[in-house]
Amino acid sequence: MELKDSIRERIGSTGPMPFEDFMSLALYHPEGGFFSSGKLRSEKGGDFLTSPEVSALFGRTLAVFVERERHRIGEPFEVLEVGAGSGSLLGSLLDAVEVDATAVDASPAARQSLRSILPADRVGGTMPDTVRGVIIANELADNLPMALAQRVDGVWRERWVGPDDSGLCFVDSEPRPEVVDWLDSHAGPVADGGWVEVQIEAANWVKSALERLVAGSLLVFDYGDTAENLLPRRQDGTLRTYRAHHLGPHPLDEPGETDITADVNFSALASIAAAAGARVELLRQDDFLTDLGLRVRLSELRHSELEAARSGDEMERLRLRTLKTEAETLLHPRGLGDFRVLVAYK
Ligand SMILES: C[S@@+](CC[C@H](N)C(=O)[O-])C[C@H]1O[C@@H](n2cnc3c(N)ncnc32)[C@H](O)[C@@H]1O
Repeated sequence: MELKDSIRERIGSTGPMPFEDFMSLALYHPEGGFFSSGKLRSEKGGDFLTSPEVSALFGRTLAVFVERERHRIGEPFEVLEVGAGSGSLLGSLLDAVEVDATAVDASPAARQSLRSILPADRVGGTMPDTVRGVIIANELADNLPMALAQRVDGVWRERWVGPDDSGLCFVDSEPRPEVVDWLDSHAGPVADGGWVEVQIEAANWVKSALERLVAGSLLVFDYGDTAENLLPRRQDGTLRTYRAHHLGPHPLDEPGETDITADVNFSALASIAAAAGARVELLRQDDFLTDLGLRVRLSELRHSELEAARSGDEMERLRLRTLKTEAETLLHPRGLGDFRVLVAYK
């Protein structure tokens, strides 16, 4: 049975479900969830391209941060990546720095790929109890199931998922207390009609990662912004789907067949991290990578490319040009450079 039909059947017997339950089934249902299907999603032939898939320079630049943190807190020290996908980040990071590493991913296809980079006992489906070092999550928070709310006549209403004649539709629901709490604390002054993705699971994940972090830091990379800067995007909300590198159909139309995602409210994550006792910085990805030396590396690559052109070494010129373009992509102020990075130190 198709996942959409089994969701309709379930709704038929138990009634409409919160959007986060629908999103959880659509992405992670063991038979038919988008990330459970056996395909690796975050790679060139997949459905979206992430920073580490764009370039090994991302992981190599993060290696500088890892070395800084090791210098700050000393041994024992390890790196944990959560939602590690194909392993492209850890692979390039481990090329640049020698450090114990563990990878966690909910997707069986991702775990299989990660076993080609790390020993099998270093790859798992859940976070270890304690970590001393650096925890990295790149584009994880935007994939964690979220509730959905709309501002109507000055109050919050939740949008659950119910059946219509042939498919699924949003249905109005009284908001649950935990949803109202999150909205009142983190959504900001949303105008009437505005849609908000209620990212309680992302907040819980940050809290849980920081509880496990004995000393070191947590790095969360993603698209999104502060609650205030997200306000102009609230009219339609930021919930969307991706398939084969393009925006996909309506999130309710093809569960299991598309990625479902939304901009991450970094104010919410920052305040959860601060409440958990961490020292918090919220940065743009281009600034974060510049501080770790990527812009200097880009200048060197431009210079070396010119040198190779002058000396007539065409193969070397092309190799350097590719690397230069990758660095420019990671730093692009309206692309990956515009991602946000939450750095939470303990
Ligand atoms: C958008 S992909 C990013 C993959 C990789 N970090 C990258 O940048 O290419 C999100 C990944 O997070 C994984 N994931 C989602 N929820 C998770 C959870 N609770 N614990 C571990 N991994 C999770 C998914 O299976 C998927 O591989």
